[in-house]
Amino acid sequence: MDRKKITIPELQNKKIEGRKITMLTAYDYPIAKLVDDAGIDMILVGDSLGMVVLGYDSTVPVTMNEMIHHCKAVRRGTKYAFLVGDMPFMSFQASEEEAVKNAGRFLKEAGCDAIKLETAEPRVLKVTRAIIEAGIPVLGHLGLTPQSATKLGGLKVQGKDAGDAKKIVDSALALQEAGCFAIVLECIPDKLAKLISEKLRIPTIGIGAGKDCDGQVLVINDMIGLFERFMPKFVKQYVKLAPQILGAVKQYKEEVETGKFPGEEHCFGMKTEELEKVAGARKR
Ligand code: KIV
Repeated sequence: MDRKKITIPELQNKKIEGRKITMLTAYDYPIAKLVDDAGIDMILVGDSLGMVVLGYDSTVPVTMNEMIHHCKAVRRGTKYAFLVGDMPFMSFQASEEEAVKNAGRFLKEAGCDAIKLETAEPRVLKVTRAIIEAGIPVLGHLGLTPQSATKLGGLKVQGKDAGDAKKIVDSALALQEAGCFAIVLECIPDKLAKLISEKLRIPTIGIGAGKDCDGQVLVINDMIGLFERFMPKFVKQYVKLAPQILGAVKQYKEEVETGKFPGEEHCFGMKTEELEKVAGARKR
C-alpha cells in the first residue's frame, strides 16, 4: 500500500468526508512501531505515561523531561502517524513564555508534529493562542481533563447537566476560534459529543464520548490489557497481555530453576581440541 505521512489537512479531510480518525497512545519505540505499522492515524504520547508506565498515582507529577524522553523513543518508532506530545501539568500554566518554550521542546527536541494541552480556561486559552501564533499546532482537550481531576471531583463524567454541557460547547468553540486543529473530548455524554462534533469545523477525537465523534482515542495499555489498576467503563480490551506475560515469566522462572532452560538449542558450540588447549593451559 502507498502510505503517506498523516498531516493536519488529511485529518481535517477525514472529518469532511466522514472517514473516522484513529488514535492511540504510545510511550516507547516497540509499541509505537506496532501502532504505526497497523496504520493508526495519530499517536499521542499522553501524560497518562505517569500512571500506566511510570507508576505514579496521577498524571500531576509527570515532568517535561520525562515527556521528552518518551516522545523521542516514540518518534523513532513512528514513520507515518501524526505524532502529538502531551504538555504535562505546570508546563503551560506559569507564563505564556514558558508555555511556548515548553511546547517548542516537543517539536525541536522530540520531533513531535503537535502538542496537546488540557482545558480552555481563560489563562489556558491565552497560552493556546500564543503557542499557535508561534507556529506550533495544538490539539485541545475538554470534558474530563485528568490534570484537574481534584477540581472536577475525581475522574468522572463531565457535562451531564445543561450548565456544564454549555460550558464545554463554548470552550470547544473558543478552542476552534483560537486555531486548534482538533479537540479531544473525554468522558462526556455521547449526545453532547455528537452536538459538539456537528457544531465544529475541526475534528473531535473521543474517549468515553460515544461513536459520533470524528475519531477515537484509547490509552494503549488499557486496550491491550497491560494496566490492571483500574479499567474505565469506556475502554474495550482487545487482548489481555498482563496474564500472558505473568504466565511466561513464571514458566521461565521454573525452567531456570529446574535446569530446563537454556536448552542445547540456545547454546554456542566450541571444538573439543580448542577447549582442551584452554583446560591444559589452566593446569600449568
Ligand atoms: O494522557 C492521555 O493519554 C490522554 C488521552 C486519554 C487522551 O490525554
